[in-house]
Amino acid sequence: MNDLPDEPTEEETADAPEGEETETCSDAEPGDASEETPQATADDGGEATATVARRLLIAGNWKMNAGGFDGTELATAVANAVADYDDVEVVVGPPATALAAVTDAIRQAKADVGVAGQNMHAEESGAFTGEISAAMLKMCGCQWVILGHSERRTLFGEDDETVAAKTHAAFNAGLAPIVCVGETLEQREAKQTLEIVSTQIAAVLDELLEFSGMGVIAYEPVWAIGTGLTASPEDAQAVHAAIRKQLHQRHPELAETTRILYGGSVKPQNAEGLLAQPDIDGALVGGASLKNESFSKIVEIASKLAQQAKTD
Ligand code: PGA
Repeated sequence: MNDLPDEPTEEETADAPEGEETETCSDAEPGDASEETPQATADDGGEATATVARRLLIAGNWKMNAGGFDGTELATAVANAVADYDDVEVVVGPPATALAAVTDAIRQAKADVGVAGQNMHAEESGAFTGEISAAMLKMCGCQWVILGHSERRTLFGEDDETVAAKTHAAFNAGLAPIVCVGETLEQREAKQTLEIVSTQIAAVLDELLEFSGMGVIAYEPVWAIGTGLTASPEDAQAVHAAIRKQLHQRHPELAETTRILYGGSVKPQNAEGLLAQPDIDGALVGGASLKNESFSKIVEIASKLAQQAKTD
């Protein structure tokens, strides 16, 4: 829907850091975005301009699909298909019912693929029927958890406070959160995109700073999720640059080390344009992550870009 979003454009785009290079670091631990010392200058008026080494991250959000043996099969296929792309960090996010089996399948395939829960409760344990804790995700072999997805926010009433509490609990348990933010169509049309996104991020900034470099942000415009509509690379970049700036204002190192993924109808056909943007450090992929062919193709595209960035 390239004619849809006309916001943000002007000053936010102007704020986009220029000349940033995204390089890769191949041996980083899950959630460890950078092997290099961040070099942003503290007194540059809020711009994140330094050389960065954020490893591209492609994460699949399977949502309420592939929760049984089909999930194990998908994970095995992905693990085998992405084995050669070690300059890209790959994560799959199965439903809770398949987490343990998926981590086992990945272990058997000897693959460097991370596993993410799609949600968790902020409390460690207790009388919360149907819920799972961060420690339980860890026990299933997860290194990651997706938090604050727009479907959780809109369908299950999660607000910024809940997302912040979950983010805090995830970090404390040693899980790397992928915190999702994004505006609705109504909010975009009312030109509230940056206000909405910055409020959502402000709620987790302290947590992100405390565990700097471990947390990931996913910018997912709600109108682009599962609709086949995507933000143009330029529009997505403008929001990502504004997010980077907000992180930088909190702490330069936070801006340098935090990966900001784009999500919303990412598929092989549009991945390259999005992933080539300087402030887009990867993708959170829904529908296209349910088929090994499309998901591993996106990983391949990311790997090609990572290789190019190395030689540039
Ligand atoms: P989509 O979902 O790729 O199917 O739009 C993305 C997401 O919800 O994370």
